[in-house]
Amino acid sequence: MIKSKKNLVLIFSVLFSFASYSQQQSFNESPVLQNIESREKISLNGLWQVIIDPLENGYYNHRWLPREEGFFTNKKMEKPSDLVEYNFDTDYQLTVPGDWNSQMEKLYYYEGTVWYKRSFDYKEKEGKNTFLYFEAANYEAQVYLNGEKIGSHIGGYTPFQFDVTGKLKEKDNFLIVKVDNKRKREAIPTINTDWWNYGGITRSVHLVSTPKNYIQDYSVQLSKESSRSIEGWVKLSNSSSNDDVQINIKELKVNTNVKAKNGIAYFKVKAKPSLWSPNNPKLYTVNINTKYDKISDEIGFRTIKTEGSKILLNGEPIFLKGISIHEEAPFNSGRVTTKEECLVLLNWAKELGCNFIRLAHYPHSETMVKEAEKMGFLIWSEIPVYWTVLFDNPDTYKNAENQLTEMISRDKNRAAIVLWSVANETPESTSRNNFLSSLTKRVKALDSTRLITAALDTQKGNGKNERLIEDPLGEFVDVIGINSYCGWYGGSPESCADWEWANHYDKPMIMSEVGAGALQGLHGDVNERWTEEYQDAVYKYNIEMMKNIDFLAGVSPWILMDFKSHRRHLRRIQNDFNRKGLISEKGIPKKAFYTLQKFYNEK
Ligand code: GCU
Repeated sequence: MIKSKKNLVLIFSVLFSFASYSQQQSFNESPVLQNIESREKISLNGLWQVIIDPLENGYYNHRWLPREEGFFTNKKMEKPSDLVEYNFDTDYQLTVPGDWNSQMEKLYYYEGTVWYKRSFDYKEKEGKNTFLYFEAANYEAQVYLNGEKIGSHIGGYTPFQFDVTGKLKEKDNFLIVKVDNKRKREAIPTINTDWWNYGGITRSVHLVSTPKNYIQDYSVQLSKESSRSIEGWVKLSNSSSNDDVQINIKELKVNTNVKAKNGIAYFKVKAKPSLWSPNNPKLYTVNINTKYDKISDEIGFRTIKTEGSKILLNGEPIFLKGISIHEEAPFNSGRVTTKEECLVLLNWAKELGCNFIRLAHYPHSETMVKEAEKMGFLIWSEIPVYWTVLFDNPDTYKNAENQLTEMISRDKNRAAIVLWSVANETPESTSRNNFLSSLTKRVKALDSTRLITAALDTQKGNGKNERLIEDPLGEFVDVIGINSYCGWYGGSPESCADWEWANHYDKPMIMSEVGAGALQGLHGDVNERWTEEYQDAVYKYNIEMMKNIDFLAGVSPWILMDFKSHRRHLRRIQNDFNRKGLISEKGIPKKAFYTLQKFYNEK
């Protein structure tokens, strides 16, 4: 029996120190296939049959006990007297990938369960594995194949897969996915966010085949201590394999053979790559071959580190001229689902003069990350530990750690990603500090080559115009992100130019959020909220403020484009949109777009 609060704190810190001890393991135990793009696969995208099931009637009976014969059995009437009160084939349809909220008016606000069914024929290949690979589904997915439960996944923004080798029929397979996006206090993200809770199978679904012995995972990066060697590891599916592994980078005349030991092969080779940077987003084709399998990836090589309050890219100080982006589709709203939509957003960021993007507040699609890398954007990638999650709940921690592990596993070979963010605007407390510091240790265990950050809003003010950064979390991150809304959530726009910042830590600061709302096309006085002039004034004075912060290494104003949020109720102005975009959801730039563009072009 826990005697006193002190004991309670003691128990939790032991738990978390245990958590940090167990994380010395540097591999992701059950990684999903790396670089799905280069794998042999068929797409299961398209129209899926769906049943909207707010009461989860397809899973629970009236006693709230799981049904033997739930919707996952796809039961059909066999004789006229049969009673089957659902039929996927006569029910609604939704497009996959895609959220359901923007596809059907009656699902606009819907949060709950939707059952998806996809029928398909598939001839399994002799001597091959078959994996069912989901790029993402928000939030909780229960997956059934031909009536059999094959697994589940929690978290709306990272990939997951199931080995379905031998479970497929040549004809009439039916894949059923119960997707539930109900918000929960103990979840990640927690119950309230400032973005729309788009539900559904929001990213692509593939049937992937690999050789029996396949290349499960790999990491190929420039050595941390020198830009004259490339190193990494290759993990084979057969954990006792001592096979030969060949790493080939033709353009760099790298062709090395290494022997795996217990399924893992380490390598380090001399090479002099042209280093990846915004002005030179150079990628090299890396081929990895074994006797059974081959995979190729387009990888860039660069170094990233901090020195005092500077961020050094390839040894040179760089100022991150950024913008924050939500995965909201331009023009039509809803989740981004196509490469074209990614390119629209990225080209706007390019036009703004950016060399950096903050992908908020969750891992965006692999396509977005890869296209941004090709265009030379440095990337901040984040998990949705957002606002006041249940920091003292071990299951919440495990969930956050799992999403972090999946994010890093998917994108660890992307040179463009230079910052892993473990949180956004979390209130200071002992359990929060333990929670987040453990996550930073997990990042280091999985990937010690990138910078760790978090977006804070805990800066202390002395009431006048001084802001002090002294959040204890500053200890555990390499770069301190600060969200500051001078001129919008506090202070008049003109007062911002006089704000002075002090940093308790000799570490770089990124102004990870700054900005104001405006309805595109609404014009008026600079003191009139929601006008483009007001937003522009906030930008002008905050830019003046930022010019005086000598430890400022970058900025990613909030936000590129207006985006949907359940928190934005002001009719005729917000209409369910957060209006802090520099561009409207219809693609029309606001005045402040040009003010920031000018700042970046002069920088
Ligand atoms: C916060 C938060 C964002 C939010 C923004 C706003 O800082 O991180 O997610 O959208 O403020 O209020 O517009």
